Amino acid sequence: MTQSDITGPLLSVRDLHIRYETGRSIWGTPRYGEVVHGVSFDVKRGQTFGLVGESGSGKSTIGKAILRQIPVLRGSIRFDGKNIADWPAGRTPLSYRRAVQVVFQNPRLSLNARMQAWDTVAEAVRFHLGLRGARLKDRVAQLFSDVGLPTQLGSRYPDELSGGQQQRVAIARALACDPELVICDEAVSALDVSTQAQVIALLRRLQAERGLSYVFISHDLGVVRSLCHSVGVLQKGRFTDLGPVSDVFENPQSPYTRALLDAIPRFPGRRESA
Ligand SMILES: Nc1ncnc2c1ncn2[C@@H]1O[C@H](COP(=O)(O)OP(=O)(O)OP(=O)(O)O)[C@@H](O)[C@H]1O
Ligand SMILES: [Mg+2]
Repeated sequence: MTQSDITGPLLSVRDLHIRYETGRSIWGTPRYGEVVHGVSFDVKRGQTFGLVGESGSGKSTIGKAILRQIPVLRGSIRFDGKNIADWPAGRTPLSYRRAVQVVFQNPRLSLNARMQAWDTVAEAVRFHLGLRGARLKDRVAQLFSDVGLPTQLGSRYPDELSGGQQQRVAIARALACDPELVICDEAVSALDVSTQAQVIALLRRLQAERGLSYVFISHDLGVVRSLCHSVGVLQKGRFTDLGPVSDVFENPQSPYTRALLDAIPRFPGRRESA
């Protein structure tokens, strides 16, 4: 790793274009629709980049491209200096799969309903780190402790856990391989307000302890403001505003961002723009 890799951003996205196959002609030729049109942003090490915007604006699509779940049409996604968009489809190095993890909105769906909490986390530790026996047990116990889950809950199935506890299991599973970047796709959106605050505090603590970086996808601007360092406001696959959270929230440049902010009644600190 070169000096610039260490001091530069962890993730650097440039002129990202993504399309989906939307159907086929009667001749079987695929038809495509582009949904992300030239998006660029950086995620700094140990910081949180917020991705906000209306439903269908392309937030999860960008997250999926970073996770290499969908192909990139054009542009680059540099992680630690390497352009991961160049790698052939289906060939994602294990080191990258360890370095970038994801936490979804609905832990009830993302967790295996037939797997106890302990086994869910242990399976990830076994897979990524190859630990067995006492070392595996210690590592899982440490992860439970890191996310504030009592180990007695280890024998519970997802249905026997609260939403907040389920999300802690999902976070522990994501942390099992010591990732550098976690994509949180509406990770706190399904939780009630007080549980949401607890999970946000957890994410913040984990960031401070582990130097984690997050891409935090959310439609909740209040949450984004409290958690994120910088933010991109997405509308129909393009950024309407991009920059440090304080700049974007205090002085939004686009009418779209202003309208989004105006739609939040509980948002007192915003300066009214001309
Ligand atoms: N697999 C797919 N095939 C075709 N189009 C898709 C596919 N997945 C998403 N899209 C379309 O791409 C656009 C962006 O979707 P995306 O899921 O990224 O939005 P989003 O910003 O995450 O929305 P939400 O806030 O509702 O989760 C939408 O128009 C959506 O219909
Ligand atoms: Mg989404």
